[in-house]
Amino acid sequence: MRDDQPVLFFDSGVGGLSVLAPTRRLLPHAPIVYAADSAGFPYGTRTEAEIAARVPALLGRLVERYRPRLAVIACNTASTIALDAVRAALDLPVVGTVPAIKPAAALSRTRVIGVLGTDATVRQPYVDRLATEFAADCTILRHGSARLVALAEAALRGDAPPAHALREILAGLLDQPGGDRMDAVVLACTHFRLLDAALAAAAPRPLMLVDGGDGIARRIAHLTQGQGWPVASAQGAAVFTRVGDEERALAPALARFGLGAPELL
Ligand code: DGL
Repeated sequence: MRDDQPVLFFDSGVGGLSVLAPTRRLLPHAPIVYAADSAGFPYGTRTEAEIAARVPALLGRLVERYRPRLAVIACNTASTIALDAVRAALDLPVVGTVPAIKPAAALSRTRVIGVLGTDATVRQPYVDRLATEFAADCTILRHGSARLVALAEAALRGDAPPAHALREILAGLLDQPGGDRMDAVVLACTHFRLLDAALAAAAPRPLMLVDGGDGIARRIAHLTQGQGWPVASAQGAAVFTRVGDEERALAPALARFGLGAPELL
């Protein structure tokens, strides 16, 4: 293992930056390659078959090119559908991002938990299994929102999300039977954590917003324990499968996360 071997982060877009941020806080010298499948974005409205075909192939290319020490699928949609296939195809540790139902169940007092993800994630059997295993005594409400994904991408290009749009999205959970008792919401899409402050401000009452970013950072630190890192932190690379005006407009936000301007894979 060479000290300069990077940690690879993968998402359909900028959502994975919400997983990168806590990882950087724990491992400030880790070399980073952040890969976004902008040509395939958004994943949340795609079929299972499309994601299952796309994600392992793309990760294979990325691993061949960058030789990372570890890969992080910083996307709930890709992880709940393709994590097993990626692990089977790649010869390195792969950390997935799955809805943080377990920590939410530990926090909820009312035992009503919302899962806010993409349409593809909220319908996955993986979510049923998490609910059965970790929140069997809870009512789980689910809502998929492609709009919130788009608002998060726009926010990183500098367009603040309108509060009324966020309120409407939260109403997708709050207006369901039992929603009046919901006290915790799992941000089950990595994009959504990028808007957590705006979501909290738009919510009609306090809600605990729970995501898995800190847990994933701890997992990466654990899996790389004892490995060497470069002595100084360096700018990470941002690699996109499509680079057009929308991606170029992300450069200032990518810089805030310690990444260079988008390069084409
Ligand atoms: N960030 C992704 C997730 O965590 C998906 C966003 C999308 O491409 O729809 O699910």
